[in-house]
Amino acid sequence: RYRDDPEGGVSPQKAWEDHQSRKATLNYGSRNKKQTSDQEDYPFVFEDQIEFIKASVMAGEEFDDNVLNGKSHDNAAAKSAASDKIQEERKTLPIYQYRDAFLQAVNDYQVLIIVGETGSGKTTQIPQYLHEAGYTKRGKVGCTQPRRVAAMSVAARVAKEMGVKLGHEVGYSIRFEDCTSENTVLKYMTDGMLLKEFTDEPDLASYSILMLDEAHERTLPTDLLFGLVKDIARLRPDLKVLISSATLDAEKFSDFFDSAPVFKIPGRRFPVEIHYTLAPEADYMDAAIVTALQIHTREPPGDILMFLTGQDEIETAEEILKQRTRGLGNKIAELIICPIYAILPTELQAKIFEPTPHGARKVVLATNIAETSLTIDGIKYVIDPGFCKIKSYSAKTGMESLQVTPISKASANQRAGRSGRTGPGKCFRLYTAFNFQHDLDDNSVPEIQRTNLLNVVLTMKNLGINNLINFEFMDQPPSEAILKALELLFALSALDKKGHLTKVGKRMAEFPLDPMLSKMVVASDKYKCSEEIITIAAMLSVGNAIFYCPKDKRVLAENAKISFHEGNVGDHIALLRVYNSWKETNFSTQWCYENYIQVRSMKRARDIRDQLEGLLEKVGIELTSNPNDLDAIKKCITSGFFPHTARLQKNGAYTTLKHPQTVYVHPSSGLAEVLPRWVVYHELVLTSKEYMRQVTEVKPEWLVEIAPHYYQMKDVDDPALKKMPRGKGRIG
Ligand code: CDP
Ligand code: MG
Repeated sequence: RYRDDPEGGVSPQKAWEDHQSRKATLNYGSRNKKQTSDQEDYPFVFEDQIEFIKASVMAGEEFDDNVLNGKSHDNAAAKSAASDKIQEERKTLPIYQYRDAFLQAVNDYQVLIIVGETGSGKTTQIPQYLHEAGYTKRGKVGCTQPRRVAAMSVAARVAKEMGVKLGHEVGYSIRFEDCTSENTVLKYMTDGMLLKEFTDEPDLASYSILMLDEAHERTLPTDLLFGLVKDIARLRPDLKVLISSATLDAEKFSDFFDSAPVFKIPGRRFPVEIHYTLAPEADYMDAAIVTALQIHTREPPGDILMFLTGQDEIETAEEILKQRTRGLGNKIAELIICPIYAILPTELQAKIFEPTPHGARKVVLATNIAETSLTIDGIKYVIDPGFCKIKSYSAKTGMESLQVTPISKASANQRAGRSGRTGPGKCFRLYTAFNFQHDLDDNSVPEIQRTNLLNVVLTMKNLGINNLINFEFMDQPPSEAILKALELLFALSALDKKGHLTKVGKRMAEFPLDPMLSKMVVASDKYKCSEEIITIAAMLSVGNAIFYCPKDKRVLAENAKISFHEGNVGDHIALLRVYNSWKETNFSTQWCYENYIQVRSMKRARDIRDQLEGLLEKVGIELTSNPNDLDAIKKCITSGFFPHTARLQKNGAYTTLKHPQTVYVHPSSGLAEVLPRWVVYHELVLTSKEYMRQVTEVKPEWLVEIAPHYYQMKDVDDPALKKMPRGKGRIG
């Protein structure tokens, strides 16, 4: 809405090209350099680049002090072995003053809603207070986070504060990674992992306290947990439930939990100056980078937090910033660039929290994660392009895609607030005040109302909740979406006609994968290619971070990539070849460099694959290899992904088979030039067009064979095929 860029999101490619063309006109450091005295001399001026207006000053938020019991607290129980300094730091957090009052409230009530400004200490302190007060003698304290990185980094922080080794008393559990032990009493985990634990321990007997943190995020698993936890709290009077949230819409949570009391932690918030652009920005990535450099060269000390929509954007921004600051050499102070996103390795994550050296400035490039889940001290400037990437789903067509979408007003205000935590801050919104007022929704729609419910329904069925309509949701999912999910799970053979879980469905539920991927894995039993299929599933789970293409070696990188696609085998099999070639070199890092493959992603794929192997054993599927029968592998992929079938049209576009919609092969696909007649795809991404990512050719008759309840002969009857000369639009 703010931008006339048809891509709808800045593709790294485009950002690069823009950057290249701009370099010629900007002439950093020469044209714009003042000729006179170098006092206060900036190496370049930005006025012609991007202008802001200061529209309003956001005052510190006023809390009505209805804290249950507001008396301050003098600590007696900091017995941990951690250093005095850390213990002193803990006492400076806003929540510290309310420690006693909080513990009293936990003692008095079974369910408590906790509301406090981001950074007030909810996530790191509350579990420790509970531990210090003895609650962990009766069972674990579990604290859920919507995001993996938050779970890991918070657990690491708490372990440090308690002076224990991560994974011992304090641990975390995220998908594909369990860092806990017998001794773990404070367990941070993603909400999805707690959901999984219900399967093995329906009453969660090993927990004395559950804290559903970041409740305002309203992720799908958290929404499910609300209902489930409310239910077991009735059966287990000894269980304490804490629902904590950053925003002030606590009433809704309280209402849902039978008018549970709300414990408010008055925050400290300093005024934040909001700056808007005068006109909409055509390219938010570029505007963000220019703004960062602008802040760096003219604003007083203080770190910068820049919000971007995903890993690809963050990596592009990192590259551009590095290049531009390198170009400026020692004309500017040091700028430390810290990217943060989901699969960032732990050692790099730690860098984000390190204090910035004197004279330097840090710029943190983050996704939405830094909006409320992570607090980075020292941030004084926020750059907010106004976008985030979310999944959107149409119950009508049953199609889901990832989309760069404008954020809500609530999000924009959270983002701005991140700059005013330790002193007055500034927030640069890369959109106009008019956009803010008129184009942004007040709140984001909870995920449960805008996503495909396949996973939810499968999970619930697996937990024995058969009547989905009677389940207590905070916000009811659309019944159309539930029906769609039931229908599809039936077609995937996960449910029988009565809607009960089948053996296939039970097996599928064991895998921490999307149901269509799980089905593909389970089907490998039949096609005797489980070795290959779990490799493919692992590679797909890593995301789109396998191949990389440095700008100066584009041709070499492209050639390396093409070699894996030889024979137009499709993207899935290409991923399999990448993995197997890497394995043949004994997992060599050098090989990855030579082939322009991201070693970090490969290692992650290997870890995931190991776990999938373990799970195969658990559900009783034998490891079998069938490397040369590509049709068997493709059929197996089709067993999971037949709902994602598309057929080629005359104009090079595709139409999805079940609910006709126009889609295209993503340019990064190995089949982008080949355009086979029939394909299945892994996912849809919406940028300038609806693109299919990870595409494999299939035969139409497979669809009827594999999914007879879903497709009939007439669906795949293809008159055009008969007229077409052989070979045209088909492979081989
Ligand atoms: O949960 P809430 O937003 O209320 O605050 P928190 O995450 O408990 O953060 C409290 C303090 O811990 C902040 O000052 C953070 O900077 C610090 N923290 C940290 O140093 N490292 C982390 N990984 C997480 C938090
Ligand atoms: Mg928190």
